[in-house]
Amino acid sequence: MKSSWVVAGLALVIAGGGFLAARPRPGVHQPVRFNHAAHVVAGVDCDGCHATVKEQSFASLPKLEDCMQCHDQPLTKDPEEKKLKAYEAAHAEPPWQRIYRMPAHVYFSHRRHVVLAKVECAVCHGAMDKAKEPPVRPAVEQTMTWCIACHQKRHASIDCIACHR
Ligand code: HEC
Ligand code: HEC
Ligand code: HEC
Ligand code: HEC
Ligand code: HEC
Repeated sequence: MKSSWVVAGLALVIAGGGFLAARPRPGVHQPVRFNHAAHVVAGVDCDGCHATVKEQSFASLPKLEDCMQCHDQPLTKDPEEKKLKAYEAAHAEPPWQRIYRMPAHVYFSHRRHVVLAKVECAVCHGAMDKAKEPPVRPAVEQTMTWCIACHQKRHASIDCIACHR
């Protein structure tokens, strides 16, 4: 009887340890549980919110006023939606956390990849159009090897100074 408890306890410790070890790293948590899929279904294009993605190096994140164009009146009973009115009342932006960020020594341009190279968002960010809640970690590990693999395949530059300027 007693030893079976010990065995069960040990099994739990091992299972728990395995679970912790399998977790990649602490996740990113967003201030509002934003649902990409619902907004894509509602007909908003990616660049409706990430306004500079076809024009600049950076894609940009939406401002609260962009959200309020539709959420000035409540559209759902979801408590997450109520947070938007609370931020508006406090004259504050939701503090969205970045998931994808290059180190300062790397140059990356959205315009170049989205417009000129015609690479789909999903190739570099996974299926954000299907995401019902904010991702807690990158869907795609954007390493140097990963960048170079595509550059080789697509005959784009692999000179160090193309990416490190
Ligand atoms: C073009 C209009 C439009 C814009 C702009 C918009 N929303 Fe929405 N939003 C909707 C619609 C429509 C729904 C209802 C979707 C459903 O559940 O059917 C919704 C639902 C939501 C919900 C409820 C939860 C859920 O999962 O459906 C939240 C939270 C939300 N939006 C946050 C935001 C935020 C944050 C922004 C700005 C970054 C934003 N919305 C911009 C139209 C919009
Ligand atoms: C209604 C506004 C809205 C639309 C439409 C929208 N997004 Fe977003 N996006 C957000 C908000 C708000 C965040 C930050 C919260 C989150 O991660 O869910 C975000 C975050 C992201 C991020 C993570 C960026 C980072 O580094 O943190 C990616 C990638 C992204 N969106 C891609 C897309 C793609 C691809 C589409 C089109 C399929 C799209 N988004 C459509 C509002 C939007
Ligand atoms: C070739 C790969 C690639 C493609 C294609 C791509 N992205 Fe990105 N995205 C990145 C990288 C790399 C970063 C980090 C950039 C940095 O930190 O300088 C990033 C960052 C972002 C961010 C963070 C905020 C910001 O201002 O940059 C958003 C949002 C985003 N991408 C949305 C999109 C959307 C929407 C599309 C499609 C229209 C798209 N991306 C296509 C690689 C890509
Ligand atoms: C899925 C394919 C793909 C991925 C992934 C990709 N690129 Fe590219 N990239 C291209 C293509 C194709 C071009 C050439 C575009 C053109 O016609 O100008 C390019 C061009 C560039 C250029 C301009 C090069 C020059 O000639 O000056 C830079 C800088 C760059 N990419 C950086 C990056 C970085 C940094 C990453 C990783 C974070 C990355 N790319 C990931 C396909 C990719
Ligand atoms: C197509 C884009 C691209 C090219 C070409 C490229 N790099 Fe990188 N490099 C990156 C990205 C993205 C990172 C950051 C992500 C990472 O560390 O994997 C990086 C990171 C690095 C780092 C930092 C690694 C670390 O552990 O912090 C060094 C050093 C580096 N690159 C050197 C080089 C040299 C030398 C060349 C030329 C032989 C080169 N890179 C060519 C994209 C590129």
